[in-house]
Amino acid sequence: MRKIIVTSALPYANGSIHLGHLVEYIQTDIWVRFQKMQGHEVYYVCADDTHGTPIMLKAEKEGISPETLIKKVHIEHSKDFYDFFVNFDNFYSTNSPENLELSQTVYKKLKQNKKIYSKMIEQFYDPVKEIFLPDRFIKGECPKCHAKEQYGDSCEICGATYTPTELINPTSSLSGSIPIKKKTEHYFFKLSKCESFLADWTSSGVLQQEAANKMKEWFKSGLSDWDISRDTPYFGFEIPDAPGKYFYVWLDAPIGYMASFKKLCKDKKINFEEFWNADSKTELYHFIGKDILYFHALFWPATLEYSGFRKPTKIFAHGFLTVNTEKMSKSRGTFITARSYLDYIKNPDYLRYYYAAKLNSTMEDIDLNLDDFLSRVNSDLVGKFINIASRTSGFIHKYFEGKLFLDDSRTHQEHISITQKCKNLDNQIKTLFESREYGRAIREIMHLADITNEYVNTKAPWMLAKDEFQHKMGSDLHVICSRSLEAFRTLSIYLTPVLPKLTSEIAKFFNEKEFKSFKDIDKKDITVNIYQHLLTRVEKKDIDMMIESSKEVLDKNIEPSKKLDDNQSTISIDDFMKIDLRVALIKEASFVEGADNLLRLLLDLNDGKSRQVFAGIKSKYNPDQLVGKLTVLVANLKPRQMKFGLSEGMVLAANDESEGPFILYPDQGAKPGMRIK
Ligand code: 2FM
Ligand code: ZN
Repeated sequence: MRKIIVTSALPYANGSIHLGHLVEYIQTDIWVRFQKMQGHEVYYVCADDTHGTPIMLKAEKEGISPETLIKKVHIEHSKDFYDFFVNFDNFYSTNSPENLELSQTVYKKLKQNKKIYSKMIEQFYDPVKEIFLPDRFIKGECPKCHAKEQYGDSCEICGATYTPTELINPTSSLSGSIPIKKKTEHYFFKLSKCESFLADWTSSGVLQQEAANKMKEWFKSGLSDWDISRDTPYFGFEIPDAPGKYFYVWLDAPIGYMASFKKLCKDKKINFEEFWNADSKTELYHFIGKDILYFHALFWPATLEYSGFRKPTKIFAHGFLTVNTEKMSKSRGTFITARSYLDYIKNPDYLRYYYAAKLNSTMEDIDLNLDDFLSRVNSDLVGKFINIASRTSGFIHKYFEGKLFLDDSRTHQEHISITQKCKNLDNQIKTLFESREYGRAIREIMHLADITNEYVNTKAPWMLAKDEFQHKMGSDLHVICSRSLEAFRTLSIYLTPVLPKLTSEIAKFFNEKEFKSFKDIDKKDITVNIYQHLLTRVEKKDIDMMIESSKEVLDKNIEPSKKLDDNQSTISIDDFMKIDLRVALIKEASFVEGADNLLRLLLDLNDGKSRQVFAGIKSKYNPDQLVGKLTVLVANLKPRQMKFGLSEGMVLAANDESEGPFILYPDQGAKPGMRIK
């Protein structure tokens, strides 16, 4: 029996789980379920990644403490994973006592091993917010192509990477102020001294070929030392003996894998050292996205090596998700959260199946094509797979007390061979799951479903059933339906890692609690229950509704400020008069859970009704500032169904690329309901 720890990357605790994240969690969960079905001792651990500036600022924006924010997000994430059958043995938090202790231990060992030093550096500082600015919070003009509004680390237009100090006219996106350069002491990990260890380690078969090649490129340009400290204020762990200095989130995040496992060890009496000592004989696998390869294939093994812990057995990197071949987009409604999928499509197995059918062991991107999703799920799962049971089980129930007839000595080889073909694939399916070639495994399984269906078609049990003689034990009718159902059961066992919900219902249909092991395919004494509908088709209207409800109308983004120039087209006074602009009283204002930019306003036009409007003004306003104020509402805008509810109008605000939004208030004396003309 192998002893294995498996991890998926830790999701940041400042956003919802979406379909992009789920590629990885589903990929990992399938692998873990598969390994558990082979009888191995497997622990699947994960945690929320809770530290860092973005989380601290998000909490501040919401007017809550970071601790409250990460607790709230932990509840949301845990529920999403549970509902998608992502079955962690422990889903923890990096803000835990175990992680604090382990991070300090790792750091102290690195220091003992002379891998840490400190030096003064110069960094951008926001003089208004009194905070050092991470690259992502500085915007300015790209030094290469002069595109405006680019982040401090790279240009989205020309792809150049640079340091924030190279940006032209930098501004802080926190306060809009011009950042100043300030000296500060930072702590560094000597990655440059780990080159020979890392060159050996990364070429020892722990990485996919494409990842190993990428490493070679990085080695060519030389490894720089890694800045592992951040200045206060920072939400994270303070560095021992360095008051006001905190571990950079990426130092303690992967240690969070260990910490989550350590907590599990406490709860389940597992020997932590056996898994993490430098000479451990156990296995450790990290599933990650290709974007965080640098952290997992360089920083992480180097920190482990020089702090006396074991290194990963293998790192499995996957590609990104596109939806309908494009990057997920909030305005197109393809930025779909796990919850939104569950609300509209409901069954997580459909997505699990689709992803499995598309996944392989490479770092290629995978595309969720929504039309293909609908047709593949409906034709493979409903049309092929479930069809086997729905066409044959009724006869077994009606005429043979639900018992399958599987006596080889009294059955002609042509019938035996149908299930034999399914069982013979056992080793191949195992190899494919083990090597994460899920798409090929699914193709093999569906090919067997086709063969089984052809067998049922040719033998036409419904014709045989018309003859009363066929209702006797061991008749052709009995044999054909039994072998078809045995094949169906075998395929269900193969699909159990992918479709935990459906196959647990199938197990119940076979009067079994669950399919626990691939060895279950050899069971001989099989009975079936009354067949009840096991799966419904995915409906196009549900997909459409999911997309529609995911469309977040970011007023700021879809209405980019227009330049007043000669080319601007004019409208007639009649056109203008069509717009019903009204003075509105802001009766209530609140944050919108899960929305980065929106506030929910309840507006009163003095007509006895309240109107709900979602306004993209959160970056500038707190709900409390707005309640009781008058503003201007486009009152006859067609109501829009947004992800968070119905928006019945639009409030006016001034905006341009770098400043705003500034909400409009009417002059004194204006009353709610007054028309603006
Ligand atoms: O990229 C991310 O989403 C990070 N939160 C992943 C962290 S994985 C691990 F190393 F902690
Ligand atoms: Zn550029």
